[in-house]
Amino acid sequence: MIKIAVLGYGTVGSGVVEVIEKNRELVNRRATQEMEIKYILDLKDFPGDPYEDKVVHDFNIILEDDEVGIICETMGGTGVAYNFTKSALQRGKSVCTSNKELVARYGPELLETARENNCNYLFEASVGGGIPIIRPLNYSLTAERIESITGILNGTTNYILTKMEREGEDFADALLKAQEKGYAERNPEADVEGYDACRKIAILTSLMTGKNVDSEKIYTEGITGITSADFAYAKKCGYTIKLLARSEMAGSDRVLAMVAPFMVPAEHPIAIVNDVFNAVFVTGNMLGDSMYYGRGAGKLPTASAVVSDVIDCARHQGRVITCFWDKEDMLLADVADVERRFFLRGAQYAKETIINMLDGGRKIELEGRAEDFGYITSPMTERKFDDICNSLGDAILGRIRIL
Ligand code: HSE
Repeated sequence: MIKIAVLGYGTVGSGVVEVIEKNRELVNRRATQEMEIKYILDLKDFPGDPYEDKVVHDFNIILEDDEVGIICETMGGTGVAYNFTKSALQRGKSVCTSNKELVARYGPELLETARENNCNYLFEASVGGGIPIIRPLNYSLTAERIESITGILNGTTNYILTKMEREGEDFADALLKAQEKGYAERNPEADVEGYDACRKIAILTSLMTGKNVDSEKIYTEGITGITSADFAYAKKCGYTIKLLARSEMAGSDRVLAMVAPFMVPAEHPIAIVNDVFNAVFVTGNMLGDSMYYGRGAGKLPTASAVVSDVIDCARHQGRVITCFWDKEDMLLADVADVERRFFLRGAQYAKETIINMLDGGRKIELEGRAEDFGYITSPMTERKFDDICNSLGDAILGRIRIL
């Protein structure tokens, strides 16, 4: 029998309790032993809740209880959650988390603490919610040299972009709808500015390379500058627009990691990932392409991933599950050095100048648009494209990288 404590009885924490209770029989069978939730840690009381008698407010009760072998950290943040996780691991209690911020910032340190104390720190739910992606990278694709990872890792922004594309809405209206549906936070900055996707690609890139990728060093651009006009031009050229979190090896010792909106060819598998769904498209040197798709957020999908980690911990009690994520920093390539094609939306009044400067691409005209025109450049470095755009100033109305 293993006793479990859940830290944080919010959306994901209550989901964890629900998954363990609803699927009790199969969870126990697959864990190869019985599991029981002994404590739920939260600041609040939950009168009338079926588990109200398990609620405690003092983490030390959990820490000091030798019966508790596995802890689910579903609190979020990097303050208290870090202290609780660290001290639990130091006591040999395994921790399963959905907290991407904590994993991105302290992953290698907490993995080391777990190793030193013969327990595990597992984080399947930290990226892609219920989609299995951490375990595939850690177990299934271990014979591969991963060449690139391309992810739609944020459900809120994918919902907003899907609305803009399908209904011709502007960013502000689509964001409002996302908030009404409860997808976007009241303060949606972490989603729309790309920070959430950035933490997730930092975790995936660390697992891809085995070295630490600091999320704060990853080039990150959100979707606030994307307009319905951009979608109109994208459609005309056979593209859609997605917020991609992307990593690709740049030589043997560097990785190019970034988060930004991209124009994606309509026939690319990731182009059909819509609404709040997430997907991770992985290219390995032997397998080639594989894609992992599903619900990247939400109570039960995320909780299901946490409980899958709980089962893994139960199966590996007293044994460390190997995870290659060293403390050593991975070298990051400079985004400016990368050569690619770009979409540009320019002011009609400067059309000739812009086309002369860009030379070699293709112009896109849309009926009924008198004020702007579209242009797809030939491949060039981002540095060169930046220089051209900067010299053109206000005549550049929008620009998006092309995948
Ligand atoms: N805000 C996140 C999203 C939640 O929209 O994908 C899951 O990490």
